[in-house]
Amino acid sequence: MPSPVMPTSRRADGGAQPAAVSATGLRKSYGDKTVLDGIDLRIPAGSIFALLGPNGAGKTTAVKILSTLISADGGEAQVAGHDVATSPHGVRSAIGVTGQFSAVDGLITGEENMLLMAELHHMSKSEGRRVAAELLERFDLVEAAKKPASTYSGGMKRRLDIAMTLVGGPRIIFLDEPTTGLDPRSRHNMWGIIRELVSDGVTVFLTTQYLEEADELADRIAVLNDGKIAAEGSADELKRLIPGGHVRLRFTDPAAYQSAAGALREATRDDEALSLQIPSDGTQRELRSILDWLDTAGIEADELTVHTPDLDDVFFALTGSTDKPKEAVR
Ligand SMILES: Nc1ncnc2c1ncn2[C@@H]1O[C@H](COP(=O)(O)OP(=O)(O)OP(=O)(O)O)[C@@H](O)[C@H]1O
Ligand SMILES: [Mg+2]
Repeated sequence: MPSPVMPTSRRADGGAQPAAVSATGLRKSYGDKTVLDGIDLRIPAGSIFALLGPNGAGKTTAVKILSTLISADGGEAQVAGHDVATSPHGVRSAIGVTGQFSAVDGLITGEENMLLMAELHHMSKSEGRRVAAELLERFDLVEAAKKPASTYSGGMKRRLDIAMTLVGGPRIIFLDEPTTGLDPRSRHNMWGIIRELVSDGVTVFLTTQYLEEADELADRIAVLNDGKIAAEGSADELKRLIPGGHVRLRFTDPAAYQSAAGALREATRDDEALSLQIPSDGTQRELRSILDWLDTAGIEADELTVHTPDLDDVFFALTGSTDKPKEAVR
């Protein structure tokens, strides 16, 4: 039986940061399809980690392995210091999982769903009622608590899902696409909820199709592609991996465009859009020198925009997809 002491490693500042989740060489195949082809992960306790990947990349598979719902074909993983293969009960007692598809029972009320979870956690009736009331309040579901969950909006259902996940007071939670299908306001609310969890010291492992979401929330992001982690780092580190920063000048007058294009030989031309792209890191210094230079050359663009590479650029560069991800339909 492995000891439940969390593995630690030294940070640059000398402090020891326990890993909430660590994995080496995780593999999983279905038939002759390799879904995970050797995945290494290390998620410090109290941080938010985002696993990004196109549809079918294996995000849910990774969540299922780490939460002991399925077993890996190879490699090993520790969650909260417990080995997923040899100590699944230890793992389960430390984690909460909000699956990609709702665990809410629509036939009963939100409150009854919560009480059912409390029962599953072997809480006494009074303890269950206390925890349920507290979480319903926290997730702004008090008014809806006595209504059948089938009448809830997508955002309310998702909040109930997470509230149910928190019943046992897990220290590590897995959120598989927590905001897919939510409108922008509900998505922002959910981000607030996730940040609050982490400020309480909970470790969050989330999967998402929204690069903006990973950018907003995650301390570290891993991009899953072709069964492997194609890149791993903070949003800024990932953005630095790829070029793509530029200043874009747009013209309405074709003659002005032509003369600017003649003068700006290093710019990339888009003759149809009458626009020119000049590589730039987006710093104030560089922008000023571009503007000075345009003035000197007598070039007057109708529109100037600065584009810094975002996670979309990284994602498309790494996963080789040509289409922007569409809103997922449930
Ligand atoms: N039980 C299973 N049997 C056979 N193939 C499976 C099974 N579960 C998943 N797969 C396959 O494994 C691959 C990865 O699936 P997974 O659900 O992990 O992807 P995902 O990254 O979560 O995708 P999505 O963004 O659509 O949720 C897919 O090709 C899927 O068809
Ligand atoms: Mg999935």
